[in-house]
Amino acid sequence: MKNKISVALNERSYEIVIAPNSIEYLAEFLGQKNYSKIFVITDENVAGLHLPKLREVLEKTKINTEVITTKAGEQTKSFASLAKICEEILAKGIDRKSLIVAFGGGVIGDLSGFIASILLRGIDFVQVPTTLLAAVDSSVGGKTAINSESGKNLIGSFYQPQLVLCDLNFLKTLPTRELKSGYAEVVKYGFIFDENFFEFLEKNYAKIFAFDVEILQKIIARSCEIKAEIVGRDEKENGERALLNFGHTFGHIFETETKYSSEILHGEAVALGMAMAAKMSRNFLMISENDCVRIQSHLDNCGFVTDYKKIRSSWNEENLISHLYKDKKNEGGNLTFILLKKIGAAVIKKSVELDEFKKIL
Ligand SMILES: NC(=O)c1ccc[n+]([C@@H]2O[C@H](COP(=O)([O-])OP(=O)(O)OC[C@H]3O[C@@H](n4cnc5c(N)ncnc54)[C@H](O)[C@@H]3O)[C@@H](O)[C@H]2O)c1
Repeated sequence: MKNKISVALNERSYEIVIAPNSIEYLAEFLGQKNYSKIFVITDENVAGLHLPKLREVLEKTKINTEVITTKAGEQTKSFASLAKICEEILAKGIDRKSLIVAFGGGVIGDLSGFIASILLRGIDFVQVPTTLLAAVDSSVGGKTAINSESGKNLIGSFYQPQLVLCDLNFLKTLPTRELKSGYAEVVKYGFIFDENFFEFLEKNYAKIFAFDVEILQKIIARSCEIKAEIVGRDEKENGERALLNFGHTFGHIFETETKYSSEILHGEAVALGMAMAAKMSRNFLMISENDCVRIQSHLDNCGFVTDYKKIRSSWNEENLISHLYKDKKNEGGNLTFILLKKIGAAVIKKSVELDEFKKIL
């Protein structure tokens, strides 16, 4: 089974290794480099569950290692944590040959990647994703960010890791809700890029939720392959990479309105957003009613909420619209959405009227 994917970006190319126990490879990788010090950034949950294993591997390298543990959750992707961790690393002593290891989910990956990109104007970092969402999406492609009061991921950088190590053993402790949340980004690849992959997921999603290691390895590898292909063609999102945002325009609005709390997790917001984007695609007569129903049914079968009124019975519509206008894809105040032409093919739809969004609400 394929367990290595390459992200081809010339001098910024790197590998993604996906396997049970792939963390052992970290010692080998570090043996080929000459890092002076390692800073592991992790959160309390991941540290409690998996730090001993990571330490065991790092001890073999004899490289001086410091561990920085933050609170878990989306609120950690903030200016406050950024400042605190940067100061802590600087106080502990850092040089240009220091390495950051992001050990956790997308929150830790996004925050640590951003820190790596700005400390001493950029030091190396390695991603060790421990959630499905981070394994298939956030650890690959080099988008790093923190949130602002004005919206999600508005402050950040494009900064590629040196290596991504996805150890399936770490994923085993994921709560089912988090596993499902990550699955939303997996099925997204099927919707936007690969109908056959979506068909495979329709048949196998229950095995994924039951943690079938073989199937998990396969779907993580295929997801990373698709992401690597798109990022390889459009690293800084000048075009095609925006397609990976399918479902996110809607999703971010609800995440912002619920203040990034556990009321709705990122993947859950994306699943809801994909159902809404599918309806908008149908309203524009781009996808068939049949495709729209197929998308909706699959998301429902997986247990995602696809009707935002089931999260809260009433929302402040003005706030939702104001969040919508802060989306990074908008140009000159005009709304942009990622829509589907069919299952397996997405398009960027620019200059969408606000009324089209209101129809979906
Ligand atoms: N950079 C990108 O391209 C990109 C892409 C998609 C999403 N993201 C970002 O990723 C973030 C969401 O990532 P996430 O869903 O991984 O959230 P997360 O990092 O908050 O992790 C979810 C929860 O799972 C816990 N956890 C992590 N690993 C665990 C494990 N192995 N066992 C048990 N618990 C574990 C964490 O402590 C946390 O409580 C969002 O901020 C989103 O914006 C970024």
